Amino acid sequence: MKAKITLAKEFRIGEIDKRVYGSFIEHLGRAVYGGIYEPGHPTADENGLRQDVIDLVKKLNVPVVRYPGGNFVSGYNWEDGVGPVENRPKRLELAWGTTEPNEFGTNEFLDWCKKANTECMMAVNLGTRGPEEARNLVEYCNHPSGTYWSDLRRSHGVENPHNIKLWCLGNEMDGGWQMGAKTAVEYGRTALEASKLMKWTSPGIETVLCGSSSRNMSTFGKWEAESLDIAYDSIDYVSLHQYYGNHDGDTMNFLALTMQLEDFIYSIICTCDYIKARKRSKKTINLSFDEWNVWYHSNGAKFEKWSVAPKLLEDIYNFEDALLVGSMLITLLRHCDRVKIACLAQLVNVIAPIFTETGGGVFEQTTYFPFMHLSNYGRGSALLPLVDCPKYDSKDFTDVPYLDTIATYDEENDEMAIFCVNKSMDESMVLDVNLMDFDGYKPCEFISMDGCHKNDENTFGDIKVKPHSNPVPAIDGTTLTVELKPFSWNVIRLKK
Ligand code: AHR
Repeated sequence: MKAKITLAKEFRIGEIDKRVYGSFIEHLGRAVYGGIYEPGHPTADENGLRQDVIDLVKKLNVPVVRYPGGNFVSGYNWEDGVGPVENRPKRLELAWGTTEPNEFGTNEFLDWCKKANTECMMAVNLGTRGPEEARNLVEYCNHPSGTYWSDLRRSHGVENPHNIKLWCLGNEMDGGWQMGAKTAVEYGRTALEASKLMKWTSPGIETVLCGSSSRNMSTFGKWEAESLDIAYDSIDYVSLHQYYGNHDGDTMNFLALTMQLEDFIYSIICTCDYIKARKRSKKTINLSFDEWNVWYHSNGAKFEKWSVAPKLLEDIYNFEDALLVGSMLITLLRHCDRVKIACLAQLVNVIAPIFTETGGGVFEQTTYFPFMHLSNYGRGSALLPLVDCPKYDSKDFTDVPYLDTIATYDEENDEMAIFCVNKSMDESMVLDVNLMDFDGYKPCEFISMDGCHKNDENTFGDIKVKPHSNPVPAIDGTTLTVELKPFSWNVIRLKK
């Protein structure tokens, strides 16, 4: 099949906030224990941080990592995770039915962030706790010294404040599974007061209001409107969460889910702007898509109740998952004027691009690579390509473009990148790219992932699904022509 895209500097959607390439570590399963932290592991440092994991995180170039939950945060006493480890209590962890040993906590995570070249997006417990404990945590983390909580931090060996900039006001507070779930009005009031006190404690921080737990919630839409109406003036972002799965083995329908994602993002933008209009406000609320991924392979897995760090949510991803992850991130970039933060949920072992064996090795899941390409090469501004391509209908969607694409333009370094998913399972796509006013830009690299079966997976020592380089595509004047293999992930890089 044939397709055409047109690109011009004027087609700029907006500057890409690097935090759109964020991720997430929750005290859940083996994300922390046996994931980022494993004292005694051959690669662990003196604090138990696994260097093999840090190396792969660094290659992903993740600028921000949300912590410590997720559902976990709604029952978490942050004070349990600071100070001498031998004094820290073991607790029943009700979100996942495990035991939390609290060997790893706030300061250990902030230490890991430094080593992994990333920053912390900290979530506070607004489920079983409230504004008081939240502002104490902000004081512990961000206040220099001379007060109870800041001096407590210093007594724990952390002289300088962590200066955490970004704070989540709880997690999925409309979900019945959430400890301390709330109505929109209860949550709006709690979030407003928490955000207010947190900002008084540490001026300059930014806060994220919880949106609905997903687009499928019965609360969706009304929840955002009601809680925003209450908390609008104090908060900066509203959160979105979405996970997809190929539950019935219908690949073409699975890959079409980005149409729904697009619609979801648009609905939340509209809701934020509706409240802005009602308030005649000058302030715009942006979006923090702080949980997104494919999640379904591990559903129903059994584990021993109240055990420490059991194998939970350990999805092993296949090739079609990698294509959807690439398409989902492309969709987020198409809205980079409003989606400023996004977190691939999660980072290690738990529905994650990085997978470890406790006491053993580590490998990159299939989904690792499209994320790595976008995060490393998709910087600068996003450009909305004019797309002319064949379309298909699937069970739930009509007129689904076979081509998912976004271009990025890094003006400072005179670089461009075009990211494409060819969703067709059996046909190549000959793509003409009209580069309009990008004259002088020449293709310098063409990377793809193709030739795999949709169910191919990676494992320790056997990375079947991985990127490879191709001959650089031909360019004639400002028209570049490239063949996108059937069912493929593609990155075309250009330089002036
Ligand atoms: O990421 C796994 C879980 O999904 C998180 O704990 C929760 O916020 C969401 O439901």
